[in-house]
Amino acid sequence: MSGVTIVVGIQWGDEGKGRIVDVLADRAEMIARFGGGNNAGHTLVVEGRKVVLRSVPSGIFHAPKPLLIGAGVVIDLAGFVQELDELRAIGVDVSRVKLDERAHLTLPYHIALDRLGEQARGKGAIGTTGRGIGPTYVDRVARSGVRAADLREPERLAQRVRAALALHGNRLSEGGAAIDAGRLLEELAALSTRVAPHLVDGVALVHDVLERGGDILCEGAQGTMLDVGFGTYPYVTSSHTIAGGACVGLGFGPMAVREVIGVTKAYCTRVGAGPFPSELDDAVGEQLRARGNEYGTNTGRPRRCGWFDVVAARYACRLNGVSRLVVTKLDVMSGLERVGVVSSYVKDGRPVGVDRLGEAGVTPEVTWYPGWSEDVSAVRRVEDLPRNARAYVQALEQATDTPVGWISVGAERSSLISIVDSGRRV
Ligand code: IMP
Ligand code: MG
Repeated sequence: MSGVTIVVGIQWGDEGKGRIVDVLADRAEMIARFGGGNNAGHTLVVEGRKVVLRSVPSGIFHAPKPLLIGAGVVIDLAGFVQELDELRAIGVDVSRVKLDERAHLTLPYHIALDRLGEQARGKGAIGTTGRGIGPTYVDRVARSGVRAADLREPERLAQRVRAALALHGNRLSEGGAAIDAGRLLEELAALSTRVAPHLVDGVALVHDVLERGGDILCEGAQGTMLDVGFGTYPYVTSSHTIAGGACVGLGFGPMAVREVIGVTKAYCTRVGAGPFPSELDDAVGEQLRARGNEYGTNTGRPRRCGWFDVVAARYACRLNGVSRLVVTKLDVMSGLERVGVVSSYVKDGRPVGVDRLGEAGVTPEVTWYPGWSEDVSAVRRVEDLPRNARAYVQALEQATDTPVGWISVGAERSSLISIVDSGRRV
């Protein structure tokens, strides 16, 4: 059966989506990104070599499949060209990387505006990645954005860039970040020749694959709890990170979707500010950070670590219509005497919903499970997991009411327990 499979993160990003996309890419005809920009950082380990992808989909190591960066993505051209050069340098055929000409460009003034916005927020700063993502989406919605298609028409490009600079000029000069339009246009002209061979009508590409009966694998960025509409607003990113974002970011209808895979760590992390009820400000949190190497791929910031959050996960499964879960980094949890999951939030002695998780006085209730000491990184069959580890994954499955299809136990491509392929349940 052909159709669309969507991979989304069901936490606050960095769940390990890139890894599972890399595994599932074999079955798809095309891999596509639908939202976000180079705020994403997907780390892959391919034949012992660490590769970080920011805008290019994780399926890049699956020659000769086309990879689409969809209309819903915002693209930093300089960063994109650099990423292509880095991939080319290690022998990857990057001609397969296609960019929908509807995608909006993140320009240097967006990066400056991102910084100025964070400064202005002071204590309420979001802790953005500083890549200009928010301001690019603002311009898109405000209809003052510049699209990849504009690169084909230098006059229109100049007009649009000048109009945007007129709009943002005061703000930029006040913040000491004035941008010279002439110089920016020269830079864009140079980048434009590099990007031109990659520009496509992404909608035509998507529907060509679907009409031929092919599969498309959609790769989400960030996580559900960072969704601009349903996440922990205002501590969110500026795009729709949930499965519905794939429809509006690539241009197909919901009936094309066959499967939604929700990726979650066996515990939880968050980078940047905002509510995180299951956060562990103690030695256990430190242990998860150290063992899980929980530092931002892009910014190097230490990630906040905490227990798995059942309330948020259930909410995320609903929002995305998750049909199967992937539990990643189970190996990181070995050696804990007991492992917790946040099973409810309580305020004034009463359970409250996920919509109130940012409120003062909301405390998490933790349910405990016995830990396991065995190293699980070499395990490849679910029945070979230590009893307590398996019981823990079963508990996650039950709590979310969603079957677990895969468990990852290490960074290598092969460090995966496939429950789907074994035909078993956890
Ligand atoms: P922005 O997307 O740079 O505007 O950042 C908004 C929020 O989303 C911040 O809390 C970031 O730390 C977070 N964020 C953005 N991209 C990622 C990601 O790829 N992984 C994890 N957090 C992210
Ligand atoms: Mg990441």
